[in-house]
Amino acid sequence: MELRLKERLGRKFDEEIRFFKGWIDGPKRVGAICPTSSITAGRMASIVDTTSCLPVLELGPGTGIITKAILKRGIAPENLVSIEYSTDFYQHLVRTFSGVNFINGDAFDLERTLGAWKDKTFDSVVSAIPLLSFPMERRIALLEDLLGRIPAGRPVMQITYGPVSPIIANPDRYRIRHYDFVVRNIPPAQLWTYSRP
Ligand SMILES: C[S@@+](CC[C@H](N)C(=O)[O-])C[C@H]1O[C@@H](n2cnc3c(N)ncnc32)[C@H](O)[C@@H]1O
Repeated sequence: MELRLKERLGRKFDEEIRFFKGWIDGPKRVGAICPTSSITAGRMASIVDTTSCLPVLELGPGTGIITKAILKRGIAPENLVSIEYSTDFYQHLVRTFSGVNFINGDAFDLERTLGAWKDKTFDSVVSAIPLLSFPMERRIALLEDLLGRIPAGRPVMQITYGPVSPIIANPDRYRIRHYDFVVRNIPPAQLWTYSRP
């Protein structure tokens, strides 16, 4: 087998082991059984506006597949802020993606977690937080907080595995759009976007 292919397969296997270890440590916090596929990651990152010059906010990067897809869109590493709760994932991310502003903290406590970034306006949010592991009131509060940090009309992109939006409708407050259903993901993934009208 060609050496580069062997290296690539080795790296992918490492990521799966790391992910599985994270899942063993906290299945509800990780919320999925496998890393996100690169196809799903690309679809999620596609909402980023590379011309806005605003930083992008990522939540729950895990092993960094979605981080990689956001950078691949042309976002400079220093223009990406990414919040990861697990210290193990966080340390791996810092080692892997130089220049990205990783924060080891809780996405549900943005005012504290964002630190120096707390008054910034972001272009958009790309989130892999396992919302279904949290009560509905906390999901809504997180979404409202996120929508206050991006311009009106810009999206919060959320991955989930359930059949319906993980956040209940409230048309007076936000617009919900079913963005995609990606079969090439384990398990198949639903992508939703939320924006201020
Ligand atoms: C479904 S996994 C993300 C998978 C990732 N896309 C990948 O392929 O590796 C969810 C991630 O959200 C993180 N997470 C869960 N709760 C969080 C919170 N409150 N704040 C920040 N990150 C959180 C988990 O540690 C985990 O890395």
